[in-house]
Amino acid sequence: MTTRSRIVGTGHYLPARVVPNSEFEARLDTSDEWIRSRSGIERRHFAAEGENTSDLALAAARAALDDAGLAADDLDAVVVATSTPDLTFPAVATMVQAGLGMTRGFAFDIQAVCAGFVFALANADALIRSGAAQRVMVIGAETFSRIMDWDDRSTCVLFGDGAGAVILQAGEGTGSASDRGILAVDLNSDGRLKDILLVDGGVSSTGTAGHLRMQGREVFRHAVEKLTATAAKALERAGLETDALDWVVPHQANLRIIRGTAQKLGLPMERVVVTVQDHGNTSAASIPLALSVAKAEGRFRPGDLILTEAIGGGMAWGAVILRW
Ligand code: UT7
Repeated sequence: MTTRSRIVGTGHYLPARVVPNSEFEARLDTSDEWIRSRSGIERRHFAAEGENTSDLALAAARAALDDAGLAADDLDAVVVATSTPDLTFPAVATMVQAGLGMTRGFAFDIQAVCAGFVFALANADALIRSGAAQRVMVIGAETFSRIMDWDDRSTCVLFGDGAGAVILQAGEGTGSASDRGILAVDLNSDGRLKDILLVDGGVSSTGTAGHLRMQGREVFRHAVEKLTATAAKALERAGLETDALDWVVPHQANLRIIRGTAQKLGLPMERVVVTVQDHGNTSAASIPLALSVAKAEGRFRPGDLILTEAIGGGMAWGAVILRW
């Protein structure tokens, strides 16, 4: 018998304010046409003043508990992937724990930027398989609007705010690739690539939050190559071929990266969940948001094989193979 971590609930939350590309045309030397054709983004949501990452995360977590038919104290742990916490400390996850009224268990944050949700899923899976937890709420939540340089047209048009959550629960499997739940993970990082995507401030350096800086073309080049490699590695670990995949739920940074990776993997776009047009790049929130939206649309069937993959600052990247 093998312990498998299964998704038993999903939820998401998007702030009320929707910002179409046209809002940027009025302020910057840019166009709806440029943003759509270079990134696939048509609109994004921005959090209201006073609405923080923990508020977004809490709303997504509540939706996931409702979806699973569970109560807060049924959870053993809360893990939040974020690079835009409310405060330097404590962790956003502990704020969610308190907000849910959860009086037991433990909560902590993970910071792997846009790959954060993949790293959080892998860590939650390890907690479950080790027996340290039976049920873990895994959340990706971000307010990237707070770290934008609004005069930098090459970045500020690309990002959005939001949160997505999944509940992982221990289940029994046979150890084969036909089990439901997480089947394989692959995690990577290369700290030598720090300078192509970073936020230029922080607690111990500038004492400010800083602004996002990105060498877009360089990040793009690494993205397609590394996402294809990590997907192949995770599939190999699961003992599966690309053909076995029913769905890919990629990090939603750029439609051209999503298409390029699907093409390299030999997967038709009909099997790829795409939400970047509506959400922009929500960093660690993008995969759980896409999972929750696709589930709400009834796209996944029990037994479907799903690949998630993401890359971001660090650089950090990885993939998870799971059976729904
Ligand atoms: O989630 C974390 C990972 N992040 C990513 O995956 C992002 C990866 N990178 C990308 O998605 C793309 O590189 C971008 C969407 C950021 C840019 O697309 P690109 O095709 O790589 O464009 P580029 O950076 O090569 O810029 C092309 C031109 C430049 O003008 P010149 O130098 O060719 O005259 C830019 O100045 O487009 C210009 N440009 C803009 N023009 C209008 C840059 N931003 C804008 C803009 N509106 N907003």
